[in-house]
Amino acid sequence: MKKLTFLIISFIIILSGFLVIWFGVFNVSAKEKHWDITTKMLEIIRERSIEVRAYDLQIPNLSDPTMISNGAKNFDAMCVQCHLSPLTKPTELNLGLYPQPPIFYKEKHSRHNDKNIFWTIKNGLKLTGMPAWGDFHTDEQIWEMVAFLKQINGISKSEYRQLVGKGGHTHKAGFEHNNDNKAHRHDSDHNDSHGKHKH
Ligand code: HEC
Repeated sequence: MKKLTFLIISFIIILSGFLVIWFGVFNVSAKEKHWDITTKMLEIIRERSIEVRAYDLQIPNLSDPTMISNGAKNFDAMCVQCHLSPLTKPTELNLGLYPQPPIFYKEKHSRHNDKNIFWTIKNGLKLTGMPAWGDFHTDEQIWEMVAFLKQINGISKSEYRQLVGKGGHTHKAGFEHNNDNKAHRHDSDHNDSHGKHKH
């Protein structure tokens, strides 16, 4: 008898789960925010997942000025559409994504240590819109961005401009990009177009 009750209850639970999915009860719209408890749970899952995987990483010297400046160039070329910079106006990507990409030059990210930031840039974050950059960049290039992100909070327009310099960005050797399959550092003209995009 007990066994039968157990089977019936399990069946009802599985069926309700199936019905919740089938009738589309869960709203996947990026405009519908998670409940606070869901956000908290997702944060804990993310933090623990990264912490465990980043634990053994060796941190290079992140105060090296060349590293910081190289990181600024790559950040400016690849990340500002979502994470903005003092020279970028809010973009559709920054405003439309949920969870929203943090604006590093305005917000402090003291909770996240260098290893976790490196891991996140290399691997991306599932279900958030944060891409994985590790297939296209060497670890060194990723550490350069970590080095730059350590300096970005509160950075002024002129400091930012100075670090980015002429711009240009780097990739891993062999990565095919714009029909160019050699490692390259090319001068970019997209710096000039920030904020000028009109509809
Ligand atoms: C298409 C948009 C997009 C682009 C491009 C992008 N990111 Fe992100 N990134 C996100 C989103 C969204 C999150 C937030 C995830 C969250 O809150 O869970 C994020 C999170 C992060 C985090 C973790 C922040 C934290 O909580 O400490 C880091 C570090 C980061 N991005 C660095 C970068 C770097 C460096 C680049 C460029 C190489 C980049 N991102 C490009 C969307 C983007």
